[in-house]
Amino acid sequence: WERPDGRPIRQRLLVVANRLPVSAVRRGEESWSLEISAGGLVSALLGVKEFEARWIGWAGVNVSDATGQKALTKALAEKRCIPVFLNEEIVHQYYNGYCNNILWPLFHYLGLPQEDRLATTRSFQSQFDAYKKANKMFADVVNEHYEEGDVVWCHDYHLMFLPKCLKEHNRNMKVGWFLHTPFPSSEIHRTLPSRSELLRAVLSADLIGFHTYDYARHFVSACTRILGLEGTPEGVEDQGQLTRVAAFPIGIDSDRFIRALEVPQVQEHIKELKERFAGRKVMLGVDRLDMIKGIPQKLLAFEKFLEENPNWRDKVVLLQIAVPTRTDVPEYQKLTSQVHEIVGRINGRFGTLTAVPIHHLDRSLDFHALCALYAVTDIALVTSLRDGMNLVSYEFVACQDSKQGVLILSEFAGAAQSLGAGAILVNPWNITEVAAAIGQALNMPAEEREKRHRHNFTHVTTHTAQEWAETFISELNDTVIEAQQRIRK
Ligand code: G6P
Repeated sequence: WERPDGRPIRQRLLVVANRLPVSAVRRGEESWSLEISAGGLVSALLGVKEFEARWIGWAGVNVSDATGQKALTKALAEKRCIPVFLNEEIVHQYYNGYCNNILWPLFHYLGLPQEDRLATTRSFQSQFDAYKKANKMFADVVNEHYEEGDVVWCHDYHLMFLPKCLKEHNRNMKVGWFLHTPFPSSEIHRTLPSRSELLRAVLSADLIGFHTYDYARHFVSACTRILGLEGTPEGVEDQGQLTRVAAFPIGIDSDRFIRALEVPQVQEHIKELKERFAGRKVMLGVDRLDMIKGIPQKLLAFEKFLEENPNWRDKVVLLQIAVPTRTDVPEYQKLTSQVHEIVGRINGRFGTLTAVPIHHLDRSLDFHALCALYAVTDIALVTSLRDGMNLVSYEFVACQDSKQGVLILSEFAGAAQSLGAGAILVNPWNITEVAAAIGQALNMPAEEREKRHRHNFTHVTTHTAQEWAETFISELNDTVIEAQQRIRK
């Protein structure tokens, strides 16, 4: 990778994800304001110096006029982002429908829509058609911007059809696909009407990645049992052609969190929070308001704990940040009301004129406020019913080096495989068990907390997002080189 004059050429990386890492707000006919949202993927790729990343995705807004589209494209180009324009009908059928009402619940073991959920959607087939159409629209944009030698990295369940569209257009394109959710047991996947077509489409990629070894194993089993293909230790083989399948557990940019704790504004905030909650132990939940996060179950476990431990009632507070998400999907609307009802009941039962046991926020916090909150927390409660990885658990650990609080972690989050030895692992469906874990965490001796924290902190600071991205991309490059060598032989 050198130019003729010896200067290194950075390999171009096209990152394709449903959503661009920006939020776009229209200010006028030709004017847009953009804000970068620094999620896991963005920080991972910012740290990877040898690649020049460009993002392709939906900007999250409907822009139907040509002037608006042109202006947004221009504004996004400055952030190295390239938009895919999806109209309202496609968003409804592809994003709200097939992605978030069918694939998302299925991959998290909540099953396919039945009765009312099915009634709120059109048929599977029309949603699947919209899904394929949307994937094709992403492919068209990739093809337009692709240059020979680029690496194309497709992300997540929204874009399972994309590898096929890309390879049909150019079979020499280097294509990787990574799933950020769990891949369920093949017995779950086989209930999906379009099960085979989706698997085959993903298998067009050169390299397929998952967060855990179990998800990779489930995927390979689905290919062997449903498609009748051969599973090998390297991946899946179809008529002598191998698609590599492997686990690449993601991490976070831990330095960014550790450094933030030194920022004066964060320190000030930490001081305020400590004063505000003096004399009480702080428990924290940070989740998107999604049924897979198990927020109602967590609240019920906390209620049980308060019921059984009257002596703790005014000595502990639960701060629950529930970030609204996918608010057009009826299931998510119902969940919001359910959570509000439980919070109201618990606060009514155990609150006093001066204090309530739960502070519930239906919004996100900015990065610095979140770091301050992580730093003052005694116990983090991550009780997802299923979760691809769950990076909140990593972020909490990164901010806890002076406090060494306890992480209560669902055994159904991918993170349980990496932070399990330091956390208290729980089955989030078992409210009695979670209530007992809260008691155990509150009473844990400092020495044990230190030992558990040390284990997790070492993991979080050595398995970073940058390392994850580098490993995946270099594995993708190697996979393609090996495949070419096999063909030459
Ligand atoms: C999960 C998915 C991501 C998605 C995120 C937010 O983490 O794996 O792909 O971006 O949720 O969901 P949203 O639907 O708001 O983009």
